[in-house]
Amino acid sequence: MFSASLWRLKSYLRPYAPRLVLIWLATIAGIAAGIAIPLVGREIIDGPIAHRDAGALLPLGLLALGLGVTEAFLTFVRRWSQTGPVLGLETAIRDDLYRHLQRLPMSFHNEWQSGQLLSRATTDLSAIRRFFGFGLLFLVMNILQLITVTVVLLQMYWPLGLLVAASSVPIVLVSLRFERRYIRISRLVQDQQGDLATLVEESALGIRTIRAFGRRRHVYDSYDGSATKVYDTSMDKVRLSSRFFTFLEVIPNVTLALVLLLGALAVGGGSLTLGTLVAFTTLMLSLVWPIASLGYILAMGQEAMTAADRVMEALDTEPGITGGAGGIDVPRGHLRFEGAGFRFPGAERPVLHDVWLDVRPGETVAVVGATGSGKTTLTALVPRLLDVTSGRVTIDGHDVRDLPLTELRSVVATAFEEPTLFSMSVRENLMLGRGDASEEEMEAAIEVAQAGFVHDLPWGLDTRIGEQGLSLSGGQRQRLALARAVLSKPRILVLDDTLSALDVETEALVEEALRQVLAEATGVVVAHRASTVLLADKVALLRDGTITHVGRHQDLLAEVPEYRELLAQDADLDQEGVLR
Ligand SMILES: Nc1ncnc2c1ncn2[C@@H]1O[C@H](COP(=O)(O)OP(=O)(O)OP(=O)(O)O)[C@@H](O)[C@H]1O
Ligand SMILES: [Mg+2]
Repeated sequence: MFSASLWRLKSYLRPYAPRLVLIWLATIAGIAAGIAIPLVGREIIDGPIAHRDAGALLPLGLLALGLGVTEAFLTFVRRWSQTGPVLGLETAIRDDLYRHLQRLPMSFHNEWQSGQLLSRATTDLSAIRRFFGFGLLFLVMNILQLITVTVVLLQMYWPLGLLVAASSVPIVLVSLRFERRYIRISRLVQDQQGDLATLVEESALGIRTIRAFGRRRHVYDSYDGSATKVYDTSMDKVRLSSRFFTFLEVIPNVTLALVLLLGALAVGGGSLTLGTLVAFTTLMLSLVWPIASLGYILAMGQEAMTAADRVMEALDTEPGITGGAGGIDVPRGHLRFEGAGFRFPGAERPVLHDVWLDVRPGETVAVVGATGSGKTTLTALVPRLLDVTSGRVTIDGHDVRDLPLTELRSVVATAFEEPTLFSMSVRENLMLGRGDASEEEMEAAIEVAQAGFVHDLPWGLDTRIGEQGLSLSGGQRQRLALARAVLSKPRILVLDDTLSALDVETEALVEEALRQVLAEATGVVVAHRASTVLLADKVALLRDGTITHVGRHQDLLAEVPEYRELLAQDADLDQEGVLR
């Protein structure tokens, strides 16, 4: 019943080894004390009570009392020592999982639903904790107790001992069958809970879209459907368990009745003392809980096992993108695409192929292309959010794959087209760009991005902005994202359509300020408007997955009809674009 995954988790318990030894000692000693008590009881009944010898009663009574107190104390020690390792285990696995998720490639996060990850980090880890904290110990404890008590019973009076041993056979058989079914159904419940979590998360994030389209009913229905599935499967699980537990209760009780009947006959016939029969039934009754809980604990183990499999599945996913060992002494930011290509895993045609582009330090290139032509993909190749599938991208002659990731990502900063702001203060959101930025640097970055509106927020820079920055407008979010990218003073600044949501006037102000920043850095600017293109020294036209033309804006306008068409929607073009 131990899967490889569950077994691997044991390494998390290593720091607690001394504590675990204590727990096991307490457990074994506790079992011994528990078995000794009825045996002392037998001595009391067969000795002082049978012979009406009050003097011998006291020491034996005190012995029984002492054993009882010891057993209680050992139980306390066991429970008390258990908590630390168990909570430590859960925390350590959760930390590892989180750290690992941060390192996994974008493709992993695109494939895995966030709800599934959420349920792995919560429900699955609790299942593992329950098993390690409670199930595993009781499993071994119960088996130990079952074996010792059965041996003691056989020694006391073997015919009845055999009867008790025989009665455990059907229980074990049914347990095994139950277990197999329980695994299947637990896995189903866990998966369905993951699906439900995904639904809740998506509908919370998409609440505005859902309202705007009046789809509340529809979304509710699919939630209801998913929740009903979880309910139905959980009910099946409960039904299965209850049938099993009923069976587990019946067998020991029938056995008890038989033992009392046959035992009384044996006492009458003189082959058994009364004290032994009392001790026998007491010990036998002490087996009811271990037997009855065995199936439950096995099931718990199964649950933990599937949970461990699922957690390990996430932990085993290799971070596809890892940094190299090389380094650049003083990065200048000479960016080159050398025959770079990219194909999404499983996709038939590459999004990009044979991309050649040379951007010198201090130079800025505008990337222009139809929507869906691969501009975002192209920019993602620079900080290695995606890795080229052919050719290479270099900075100062070094393949980006040879640079340590932290170094690469301090050289390159990106402002995305759909910026994510986190549920923290404006200041903290900006500091993601650079943790040690001074107040002046922050002010300068805000100035460049024309994000002065932050000072008008109720608590200025300390205002918490909502989840995904929902309480800010699209243009405000873009400007914060730009400030964040500028703040890190990167050698290479990538702006993926960062100014698209700004009005013409604000855009002009931002561009004015950006010009200075871009003069000192290498710039890659994805642009849809002629006004943004004018920020750049040269333009690269992306078409059919590759760069077909590189040249100055005016030249491309004059010579390349596709380029003219792409920028034609721009109202200013004819008056300004051509003339400039
Ligand atoms: N996971 C994926 N698998 C396969 N194709 C994908 C995947 N993700 C994106 N694509 C496709 O790759 C192409 C390029 O997308 P990309 O986001 O780079 O376009 P873009 O030029 O930035 O467009 P826009 O101007 O709208 O931002 C698109 O056709 C898109 O549908
Ligand atoms: Mg894009």
